[in-house]
Amino acid sequence: MAEAGTRPRVFVSRIIPDEGLSMIRDACDMDLWDGDLPPPRDELLRRVAGVDGALTLLTDKVDDAFLDAAGPQLRVVSNYAVGFDNIDVAACARRGIPVGNTPGVLTDTTADLAWTLLMAAARRVAEGDRYVRDGRWKTWGPLLLLGPDVHGSTIGIVGFGRIGQAVARRAAGFGMRILYHDVNELPAEVTGPLGAVYTPLDELLAASDYVSLHVNLTPDTRHLINARTLGLMRPTAVLVNTSRGPVVDQAALADALEADVIFAAALDVTDPEPIPMDDRLVGRDDCLIVPHIASASRATRGKMARMAAANLIAGVTGQPLPTEVPPPA
Ligand code: DGY
Repeated sequence: MAEAGTRPRVFVSRIIPDEGLSMIRDACDMDLWDGDLPPPRDELLRRVAGVDGALTLLTDKVDDAFLDAAGPQLRVVSNYAVGFDNIDVAACARRGIPVGNTPGVLTDTTADLAWTLLMAAARRVAEGDRYVRDGRWKTWGPLLLLGPDVHGSTIGIVGFGRIGQAVARRAAGFGMRILYHDVNELPAEVTGPLGAVYTPLDELLAASDYVSLHVNLTPDTRHLINARTLGLMRPTAVLVNTSRGPVVDQAALADALEADVIFAAALDVTDPEPIPMDDRLVGRDDCLIVPHIASASRATRGKMARMAAANLIAGVTGQPLPTEVPPPA
């Protein structure tokens, strides 16, 4: 901890909304990386040396090398995200360093984008926009840009935590049958009001018109959607991913779209990010891709900034973090 009478030293790895930055500036001596791109790895390791706390983004890898570079005085790593797959939480726990994240505040904003992608992919919105701007719109066409209905169809939600449940609430408004899959079946108090039915993954994939992914990235969920599981889906199905890119085997997805195994996909997240421009998915009209913006509403990014700042300040002042990632058992 900083010596009595001195302000804690912290490193913040990107400009976040001022709601959070001003809290940090008031409480700490802040070194801010103000580049538009993440700090290069060697710069990150140089800048965290000797700090009491680090505020990181999902683009910063926090591992043993990072923790060694920071030094034994490091009191906290506060991630500006709900996801924390960029952080080796076990390595932090071994050194007694708590990790903070930003759960809760981005649930509905992320579900809104998952819904936007689902609707847009089904109804071919991005493709329609390109069609108009390319000057190809000559007349109203009975067979022009047809897609599946959303209302009254079946959605399979994979990962039924906060965001998955928020997507289910939107699906209920569209009169959809709701199937869900998670590691465990959830209590009826949670699933009953949504009319969501627990379904084994393979069955869910086979029965759904829309599959929306909301799992954390873990060794178990890496490439959960692969050639085999895509093969179980309907040829009319739409796959939506707002979780993490590596949950989907992207080469298998490109193969599946090329072979009409499924109808379309919509991705907020890719593997890697940004997706290389020569990836086969980039050239496909049936694959909508946006640049990891599910939580990108002004209000939500401001709330995330306040939460991440509160975790950082709590950590450097020796207080429990308001939202701490549970250390592994
Ligand atoms: C998260 O918080 O994990 C999102 O991916 C970015 O907001």
